[in-house]
Amino acid sequence: MSLRERFPIFQKKTYLNSCSQGALSIDVQLAYAQYLADWEELGSPWELWVDRLEAVRHAFSGLINAEPDEVAVTASVSASINALASAFNFNGERNKIVVSDFEFPTVGQIWHAQAQRGAKVVHVPAAGNSVPLEHFANAIDDRTALVAITHVCYRNGALLDVPAIVELAHSKGALVLLDGYQTVGTRPIDVKKLNVDFLVAGVLKYLLSSSGLAYLYVRKELLTQLQPTNGGWFSQANIFAMDNSAHTPSATARRFEAGSPPVPNTYATLAGIKLVQQVGPAQIQREVQELTGAIKEGVMRRGFNLMSPVDPNKHGSLVTVRSHKVDLLVKWLAEDGIVVSSRDNNLRISPHFYNNLDDVNRLIDCLTKHKALLV
Ligand SMILES: Cc1ncc(COP(=O)(O)O)c(C=O)c1O
Repeated sequence: MSLRERFPIFQKKTYLNSCSQGALSIDVQLAYAQYLADWEELGSPWELWVDRLEAVRHAFSGLINAEPDEVAVTASVSASINALASAFNFNGERNKIVVSDFEFPTVGQIWHAQAQRGAKVVHVPAAGNSVPLEHFANAIDDRTALVAITHVCYRNGALLDVPAIVELAHSKGALVLLDGYQTVGTRPIDVKKLNVDFLVAGVLKYLLSSSGLAYLYVRKELLTQLQPTNGGWFSQANIFAMDNSAHTPSATARRFEAGSPPVPNTYATLAGIKLVQQVGPAQIQREVQELTGAIKEGVMRRGFNLMSPVDPNKHGSLVTVRSHKVDLLVKWLAEDGIVVSSRDNNLRISPHFYNNLDDVNRLIDCLTKHKALLV
């Protein structure tokens, strides 16, 4: 069975919406079935389930070149950032949080919620489909505690210049949180090379699993300085000490976890990451670059408005096209058997390793059929 055949949706549809949800594989289906089988057969195998949680932590740390102790397993990116935010103190000089205008809403919302604890949130404005470095330079100063940036923008696919922003932030003594949800699984990610202090990502997009499990990477050197107040029994040094008389946080990134872990998702997550590792992030990046290149070429040749940067080094696996009736376009494409999505007035097209050039040609043919909605 080919890798593509492991994703049954391709028997019926042209699936190009991995920026929203990865396609379901037979492997992930079997993994969920295995969870139910273990539950049925073994009753309450908590040791096995905690082992699964640790396996997930190891698998993710391998993907981003972190140490397992630097990774917290959470229920969502939002939960990750909330736990992180709870460890910041905004009473001193450094109370400023700098947020790019390309962030997913949850990122801005969580930091704005910290205003009641003293945080001052400053937005870095975009200019077209990029956020210029000068705009970051204008916003980051000696009062900045943290700079929150997305790796790839969920609205237009633009890739931010992470090394340059990190250098700028660190030169002012600010920490950097990278939202890698739109990149982890699409290309090699090395937190040590990127030199970010924190990274968040989840598993339902390019890591091919379902919602309910996400991560927070925290640079080792920062761990003991950060005392999250958002925690629970799974954040304790000894989970099974069952001591309700004190809070004794783990010395590792587990201190950012909370309650019972998302056990069913751990099964699915391991299956999803295994598929990604089978191809390998470097090969996925090459394949996706070829596919996004063909999409951009087809879109521009037909005179449609590409909203993502043309330069392959400036966008991720997601490319976007302007439509003046994007909801209708998504609906008509769905009727043609093509699954894509939209944000603002942009049609979002996001291939993964399971796509091929036939998928791209089918998409371009259908876009041409509906060109009245595009030009
Ligand atoms: C870039 C990015 N960040 C964060 C999120 C939301 O993450 P969660 O729902 O796990 O909080 C998404 C979801 O679409 C996203 O695309």
